[in-house]
Amino acid sequence: MLSAATSSLAEAGVASPRVDAELLAASVLGVGRGRLALIDGIRDSEAGRFAELVALRARRIPLQHLIGTAAFRHVELAVGEGVFVPRPETELLAGWGIARTAPGATVVDLGSGTGAIALSVADEASPGRVIAVERFPAALAWLRRNTAGTAVEVLAGDVTDPALLSDLHGAVDVVLCNPPYVPEGMAVPPEVAEHDPAEAVFGGPDGLAVIRPVVALAAALLKPGGVVGIEHDDGHAAAVPGLLRADGRFTDVVEHGDLTGRPRYATAQRA
Ligand SMILES: C[S@@+](CC[C@H](N)C(=O)[O-])C[C@H]1O[C@@H](n2cnc3c(N)ncnc32)[C@H](O)[C@@H]1O
Repeated sequence: MLSAATSSLAEAGVASPRVDAELLAASVLGVGRGRLALIDGIRDSEAGRFAELVALRARRIPLQHLIGTAAFRHVELAVGEGVFVPRPETELLAGWGIARTAPGATVVDLGSGTGAIALSVADEASPGRVIAVERFPAALAWLRRNTAGTAVEVLAGDVTDPALLSDLHGAVDVVLCNPPYVPEGMAVPPEVAEHDPAEAVFGGPDGLAVIRPVVALAAALLKPGGVVGIEHDDGHAAAVPGLLRADGRFTDVVEHGDLTGRPRYATAQRA
């Protein structure tokens, strides 16, 4: 069944067909993917459900929507229509921020979506406060669901508003942001085009429409010595560090690659 599902997903253009088939099977059987090899029988009802899920995945419905969750570092997030599915490459930006979050620090996650970055910081560091900012109602509903019962504070707000969190200007230690950054009109896979919200993906004609105001907001929020990390499109390896330098309020501007060596996020320190 796994072999047949893998072939059908590969034919549909799914990038990781075997892994997706295994994760769907594991989800149907209620076991971890690593235990699949130990399964020696499957009920008709489970086989039927597996076939349905494989057919949906072949229609390029995101794997995480079918399973209902996305794994991000050590947290598992509820995901579905209306919210951006967190990506593995963003784990690096989150890790960078976690390493710079001293005990008691105030951390702000701008454009929080599911809350992946904010929840990871709360989970792996010992911050005093973590504030997750999100503008769009559908994403906010997922964010509230994922952060319920945690210490992460949710704020409905627009990260392009220079007055956002004005009571915290000059008082924040770490600002992290994975903004919408794909230039409008750029081709994206069907999972993204049809299921990630457009406002989570596209950042205006040049992809920098949200990043520009976020740079200025980060400079306003951070205390001297505080740090910012911003994920960006791999075509923006010069542009985002350039925006941070041009702002004039940052030092130590550094560009970082992801595990495949692609330019992925830029960081800087508030002077
Ligand atoms: C690329 S997604 C990242 C989500 C999450 N931080 C992650 O890494 O998985 C960008 C997020 O920013 C939100 N967003 C876009 N524009 C915004 C704005 N002006 N103010 C606040 N949030 C915004 C989107 O709704 C989306 O949830």
